[in-house]
Amino acid sequence: MYQTLARTSRRYLSKLPDKTSTLAKFNFPLATSTIKSVTENIHEFINHKQKVTLNGHIHRKARIRPTLSFGFLRDCNGEVVQFVANAATNDKVMDTMKKLTVEESVSITGFAQQKQLRKGETESWELALEDIQILNSSNIDAPRLEKLKQARPEDLPPQFRYLQLRTPFYQNALRVRSKIAQLIRKVLVDGHDFVEIETPLLFKSTPEGAREFLVPTRSPNQFYALPQSPQQYKQILMSSGFTKYFQIAKCFRDEDLRSDRQPEFTQVDLEMSFVNSSDQVMRVVEDVVLSIWGKIKQTSMYTLNESGELVETESDANATRLSKLDYLTALQKYGIDKPDLRSKISFESLEDFFVATENNDFPVVEACVLRGAFDPKLQPSKPPKSLTSELNYSRRRPYVFIIKSENDTKTWYEQLVKKGFMRNKGNLSEDNLCRRLSLNPGDILAVSSRSHLPYENPTPLGKFRQLAILEFPGKWQRPIRRGNDLVDSYNSDETVVGTWVVDFPLFNPVEVSEDTNAPYPKYDKSQLESTHHPFTMCKSEDYNLLETAPLKVKGEHYDLVVNGVEVGGGSRRIHDAALQQYIFEEVLHVKNYQQLFGHLLKALSMGCPPHAGLAMGFDRLCAMVVGTSSIKDVIAFPKNQSGSDRVVESPTTVDEKTLNEYFITTIDSCK
Ligand code: AMO
Repeated sequence: MYQTLARTSRRYLSKLPDKTSTLAKFNFPLATSTIKSVTENIHEFINHKQKVTLNGHIHRKARIRPTLSFGFLRDCNGEVVQFVANAATNDKVMDTMKKLTVEESVSITGFAQQKQLRKGETESWELALEDIQILNSSNIDAPRLEKLKQARPEDLPPQFRYLQLRTPFYQNALRVRSKIAQLIRKVLVDGHDFVEIETPLLFKSTPEGAREFLVPTRSPNQFYALPQSPQQYKQILMSSGFTKYFQIAKCFRDEDLRSDRQPEFTQVDLEMSFVNSSDQVMRVVEDVVLSIWGKIKQTSMYTLNESGELVETESDANATRLSKLDYLTALQKYGIDKPDLRSKISFESLEDFFVATENNDFPVVEACVLRGAFDPKLQPSKPPKSLTSELNYSRRRPYVFIIKSENDTKTWYEQLVKKGFMRNKGNLSEDNLCRRLSLNPGDILAVSSRSHLPYENPTPLGKFRQLAILEFPGKWQRPIRRGNDLVDSYNSDETVVGTWVVDFPLFNPVEVSEDTNAPYPKYDKSQLESTHHPFTMCKSEDYNLLETAPLKVKGEHYDLVVNGVEVGGGSRRIHDAALQQYIFEEVLHVKNYQQLFGHLLKALSMGCPPHAGLAMGFDRLCAMVVGTSSIKDVIAFPKNQSGSDRVVESPTTVDEKTLNEYFITTIDSCK
C-alpha cells in the first residue's frame, strides 16, 4: 500500500502544502491543565498568575469587537471556557482570532482572570489570551456547522460521528464504557483469578442460532465465519486446563437490528470448569454486575422478595443475591421471559371459566387489569392508542376494554363470547369471576389467549404490559421494602431491578409460520431447536425425557434480566461427548454434526471437565449504566439500521480482480 502511494506522489498530481504553515501545526505546547482543573483551583491560578495552556476545539463562533474579542474553547471533558483578547493583545493573536472557525482544534495560552458573570453563565473565569495557535482547521463551512451543532448531538448526521463524539454526552458514555471494562477485569482477575484469553475471530461456519458473517478465502469454496460468540472455543479452553476463562469479546450476528442489537457487538464472556452448580457462575456474575452498579453508577441493585416487593441486594457472598424467577411463571405472569420487574402489573389466567376458540393451540384465556388507569368521571371513550395500535404488535392484539361503569365490569365477556373469541366452559360463576378480576370503574382490562406451554414470547398480553409500562411511567410500581417500611413513591427510572430467569425449556418447536404477521404463530413439534444453544445440559431430573418427550425437558440455562433487558445468558454445559452427540443426532437431527461440531466432540472426549459459563451483553450493560435505551450510544462507531457504517461508508463493492482472487462471482440482485 505504501509503495502505491509513493508512486502516485511522484507524479505531482497536487502541490506539496506550504512547509512553514503545515509544520507549524505539528509544533505546539502541551496542555498544562484542563478547564475542570483550573475551575477547581481558580483562586490559586489567579493569585499566583499561573500561566495556563489549554488544548481543544473551538466551540462557538468567536465574537470580534474593536475593544474586546471573545472565543470559546471546549476541552476533552466537554467543558467550555471563554477566552478574551483586548486592544492590548498582540496583532498576531488578534489576526488568528479573526480566522477562527467552529470545531477546529486550537491551543490557547494565557492567564485565568475573574469574569463578570452574565445571565445563564456559571463559569466564573475566563482566559486572557497571550497566544493562540490553530492546529487544524475544520474543513466545513462554519455557518453550516454552526447550524448542525444547534441540533442535539444525536441528530448530527451519522457521517459526522466524530463531531457527535466530541460532545459531553458521548465523551462521558465512552469513558464510562472504558471504566466498566477496567472494573470487570479487576473483579474477575484480582477477585476471582480468571485468565483473560483471546480466541480467534476467523472461526468456522457452524449453526449457533443467528445468521453468521462469512469471510471468503483465496482457496475455492473455503470460508471462515466470524464468531457469533466464543462459545465453542471457550469450551475447548475448558478442555485445555484453564479453569476460569474470560474475554471482552467481539461477536458478530447478521440479524435484524433493533435499539439493543448490533451486527457487531461485545460480550463479557466467561467460563468456569469443575463447577457443579449454576450458582457458582451466578455468584461471579453478580459480583461483576453489583460492582458495576455500586462503584460506577453508585446505586444499589434491587431484586424481588417472596412477597413481590423490591429489596436491596445483600452483600452476603455465600448465596446468590438476585432472586430467581422460573421461565413458566415469567411467561404466565408477565407474558415474556425478560419481564421488567419494576412494575407489578401481572396477569390472571381465566382458564377456569373460559376456553379460547379461535385457534386450538392457543386455548388459555388470560387477562391483565390496569387498575385506576383513568379517572372514571372524565369518561374517556377509548383506551390510549399505544395500547391498541396494531403497529405495536407483531401478531394479534389483545382485546382492550375501558371500564367506565359497574355495568362494564360484566359486559366485556359477553362481547368476547359473541365475537367467537372464547366460549364459556359452562361453570361460569359471575361472583367468582368478579372476585378474580375485581374490576372497578377507571380500570383498563386487556384479554388475550396463549398456548399452555407458551412458545410465543412475548405473548400479546406480554407486549401489552410493556406498552402499558411506557404509557403510564411510574404507575403500578412495586413497593420497596426497607426494614419494616414499605416505600411506594420513588423514581422508578432510577431504580435498577435484577433477577435470574431459570428453568427454561431446553428445546422449542421450530416456528414454521408462512406469514410472519399471521395472528397465531405455527410450530412444528417434530422439529426442535435449542432454546439457548445445543451445548446446554438438561436438568438431571428430566434426563429420561430426552428420549421420550424432549419438549418437556428443562435446561440448566439461566438468563440475567435487569429492568426488562436480557443482560446475560448462560448455562451448565454438556461435557460428556456421547450425550452431546445424542443431542445433535437424535434430538436436533443435525445431519452433518461431525463436520460442524466434530472438533468440540473430540475436545470433550479428551477428559474435558464439567463446566458452566455465561456471557453478558457488554454494550447493553454500558447503555444501562449510562442511562440510554440505545446501545449505539455506547459504541464509538455503530452500524445504522441497514448495517452500514456511515463514517467509512461500509460495506462497499470490491473490484472484479479482487473478487476473482476469492473465486467470487456476483449476481445482480435486480435481475
Ligand atoms: P446469548 O446469545 O444469550 O449467549 O448472548 C449473550 C448476551 O449477549 C447480548 N447480545 C447482544 N448484544 C447486542 N447485539 C446483539 N446482536 C446481541 N446478541 C446478544 C445479550 C445476551 O444476553 N454463548 C452464549 C453465552 C453462554 O452460554 O455462555 C451466548 O452468546 O445481552
